[in-house]
Formats: sequence, structure tokens, C-alpha cells
Amino acid sequence: MGEILTNILIIGGGIIGLSIAIELKLRGVHVTVLSREFHQAATNAAAGMLAPQAENIPPSPMLNLCLQSRTLYPGWINKLETITGLTTGYWPCGILSPIYEQQEVNYNQQLTVNSQWLDKDAIHQHQPGLSDEIIGGWWYPNDAQVDNRALFQTLQIAAKKLKIDIAEESVEEIIRSGSKVLGVKTSSGDLQANHYILATGAWSNQLLPISVYPKKGQMLSVCIPPENIAITQRLQMVLFGNESYIVPRKNGQIVIGATSENVEFTPGNTPWGMQALLTRAIRLYPELQNYPIQEFWWGFRPATPDELPILGSSAWDNLTLATGHYRNGILLAPVTAIMIADLIEQQKSDPLLSHFHYSRFADSGAPHH
Ligand code: GLY
Repeated sequence: MGEILTNILIIGGGIIGLSIAIELKLRGVHVTVLSREFHQAATNAAAGMLAPQAENIPPSPMLNLCLQSRTLYPGWINKLETITGLTTGYWPCGILSPIYEQQEVNYNQQLTVNSQWLDKDAIHQHQPGLSDEIIGGWWYPNDAQVDNRALFQTLQIAAKKLKIDIAEESVEEIIRSGSKVLGVKTSSGDLQANHYILATGAWSNQLLPISVYPKKGQMLSVCIPPENIAITQRLQMVLFGNESYIVPRKNGQIVIGATSENVEFTPGNTPWGMQALLTRAIRLYPELQNYPIQEFWWGFRPATPDELPILGSSAWDNLTLATGHYRNGILLAPVTAIMIADLIEQQKSDPLLSHFHYSRFADSGAPHH
């Protein structure tokens, strides 16, 4: 068998893999991260919304997990920014969820957490420039955003500063025998560790029989022309509309998302996708229709059948799962890192983790003896 390199080998170098690596390293554990192609990570494609309320997650263990992670965000960001000297664009700007005339309004929405219903006058006052068709909406002052690409870079630099071994190297196979992982086969040889963590997002079931599949999201960005800065500085919050969201960055970029498509790993932006995004975004916030387009891109969310992540122990004694974060990977990074590190380093299983166990799915990858 291959070389023993490390105590813990993390397969996947997206936001989840890196966040866990940093948490474990800060606790004194030796970790190695292997990632196929960093740029493919959903982390790069995301919009960076920290939006448990705007995403309308019903009261559930998932909402609790998401709210816990949103609470952890400022401290976590502070720690990463201190380690690296970089900034991540974390911005507790709040998220506004406007409602169109014909949409049904659920006044029971999110009563358990801080939210406010704004009527027509109030919402247009709160955010000038919205479509006239908007008749009111929900204001979630505690939802926030982070510049996901800046955060990704910060995580990579933090990992390097902390001397975590990171390699852009493809894991071709997880070698298993009975209830144990024996090692991983990579393009440049086999590696062994005491423990393994799978954090490979949408690609997870290429390595293990696990219920994660890609859900493509197409995105685009525009930028505020300098002559409009005065007007558009008014867009000081995320707009989360019907199948559409608009995320203004402090630097004048405006990210617009996202489609949600079951097309396997088909790459590329399509005319349909771009038309759908632009139509919805212009309807919501007409001012942006003349802004220059900056970029188109796409990514693959790691979806699961019940849209909840897969966290915790696996069918193999020495392999932990941290995947399937679907629409909420950026948000769930800090809580995932802490709970998975607690589980591995202290054998402490947060009661919430039981709700996200792999065994809730029939094809859970149990080893065949
Ligand atoms: N969290 C937004 C999305 O996945 O499109």
C-alpha cells in the first residue's frame, strides 16, 4: 500500500474541505487536502448569499443548522481575515424578498426568527428602484452575504499560511475493504491516512455510491457604470425574488442568479439560461437593464434527494462525509467545519448531525461483505 502521509486526508478542496482542514489544523491535527481542480468548485460559482431566511427553509433541523452557521459567520470571517490579512467581502447587508402582485403571500413565513413584512409603500421606501409590480415583501435584516470568490482565496491562503498540505491532485479511487478505507489512488500514486473526509460536492458519487447529484446553476454579473454610482449606491441589500436574486457587491459588481437545472455535468451558459436570468432580474430591479455585462458562468450544486446535506459518519469506520450542501454550502461552511472537527477530533457528535446522516437514503453505500 502507499505512503502514510498524514493523520487526516480530506478529499475535496472547495469551501467545505478547506474549512474543515483549517478547523482541524488549528486544533493541532495534521491534515492534507487533495482537490481535483480548485476552479471547478461550486464555491467559485456561488453568489455568496448567507440566506437561511430568504431561502425560505422551513422550521426544521436544517433551519437550525443554517441559523447557527449564520451566527458563526462574523467570528469565522474575522479569524480567517486575521490569519491572512485579506478581506472576504462579508457584509451583513440584510436580504429583501419582494413579492409580485399575483404571488401568494405567506404571512406565517419565518415567524420564529427576525423578519419584517413591508407593505407597498414601506418596501419602495426601503429599497428605491424596485419594479412597480412589487406589492410588498419580507425584510430579513440578519441574512447577509460574503464575496464567495474572495472567501475561497482567503481559505486557500489561510490553509497555506497554516502549512496545511494542499495538492491539486485527482483522487481516482477510494480503496475500501469491508468497513475500512485502506487508502486513495491518485494520479501520482496511492496515499494512506488514519482517517478520510469526503468533501467532493457534486462529484461525490464518482468516488462512493452516495446520493449526491449535480444541479447546474447559470449566473452572470453586471457592473455599475461610474456615472450611475450615485444612483445605484442605493442598492445596499440583496434582492431575493421569484426564481431570481440580485447580489450587489461593495465594489460595484452585481451578481445575478441562478438557474436550477438537471443536466448532469453539461458545461456552459445557454441562451435560455441567460434570457431567463436577465428577464427576471430586470423585472425585479429595472435600473440594471443598461448596465454593462461583466461575466457569465455556471457551476454545479451538490444536490441530494431531500435537499439536505450529508454530514457525519459513513459506512466506513474511518471515513467521514461532508457533502451535499446543495444551495447552502457557503452559508454552512463554518458550522460544518466545527461539527465535523468535533466529531473526528473529540468523538463529539452534535445532536443536529443525526438529521443529516447518510443512512436516510437507501443507496447509502454500505459495504458489501
Ligand atoms: N444559494 C443560491 C443558489 O444556490 O442558487
